[in-house]
Amino acid sequence: MDLTQEILKLKKEKKAIILAHNYERPEVQDIADYTGDSIELSRKAMAEKDAEIIVFSAVDFMAESAAILNPQKKVLLPCAGARCPMAQMLTVDEIKRVKALYPTAPVVVYVNTLASAKAYSDICCTSANAVQVVQSLDADTVLFGPDRNLGEYVAEKTGKKIVPIPEWGFCPTHLLFQPEDIAVLKLKHPDATVMVHPECSSDTRKVADFIGSTSKMCQYAKESSFKKFVVCTEEGILYRLQKENPAKEFIIAYDGAVCPNMKITTLERIYASLKENKHLVKIPESVAQKARVSLERMFEVKS
Ligand code: 13P
Ligand code: SF4
Repeated sequence: MDLTQEILKLKKEKKAIILAHNYERPEVQDIADYTGDSIELSRKAMAEKDAEIIVFSAVDFMAESAAILNPQKKVLLPCAGARCPMAQMLTVDEIKRVKALYPTAPVVVYVNTLASAKAYSDICCTSANAVQVVQSLDADTVLFGPDRNLGEYVAEKTGKKIVPIPEWGFCPTHLLFQPEDIAVLKLKHPDATVMVHPECSSDTRKVADFIGSTSKMCQYAKESSFKKFVVCTEEGILYRLQKENPAKEFIIAYDGAVCPNMKITTLERIYASLKENKHLVKIPESVAQKARVSLERMFEVKS
């Protein structure tokens, strides 16, 4: 039996489901029950009532959110080293420090954070709903972190004052997209439309025709009458875009735009994870309880 068959057999025996982020390797996306952006994967983890195990093929903060929202299920992160560097950039001490300067401002944290930061926030958001989350708050000044670019995008869209926590938070992969490269591609492909993730810099966002989360990009590509797309987000998404739109062309705006943490989950690691129940995501209940409130508030916002 080959590895795929072994995984499918184990998955059935253990009542497990496999969720994969849009940036994962093609073979991981193919074996997953569901592929999506961070909010869709959280929703899916909650909706799968019969699943006893969720194998989360993505990075740490996504698996942690699933564990927080599903305390009765086992959530496994196949590779313990799959850690989003941005999620490490916002500490509780930093939230406390800035909160002391703006005591009445609500704290909004991007899901790309550790559980401890979520537990210390008022509400979470993802790139798909950050604008609506901030809009829903009865406050003109909002503390927002860790992604400074997403915060700036939210400020542009809502007109509210966004105080970045920390001042310098960023995604190393999305900073690779530069407007100069997009300008060259637009000269070569004048009939292309440009899709940009809100984690990109403001200079890159300025040349975008469409800005959105990874799944919103997939939706836009499907529904758009354009046949060619310049893509400014991690290159793993090209697999799904091409699979869902075989007659359309997708061009990555920077060839080396790889998030290494999204690529260390392999089929071998998914197999070992299912077989040996590793790596079990554990969040202390005192932290999980508070983080859950913040995540649940996010789900109440219409987006
Ligand atoms: P999405 O929620 O848009 O998939 O983004 C998650 C992420 O980590 C982007 O770098
Ligand atoms: Fe984190 Fe950036 Fe990788 Fe997304 S692409 S998981 S924000 S490092």
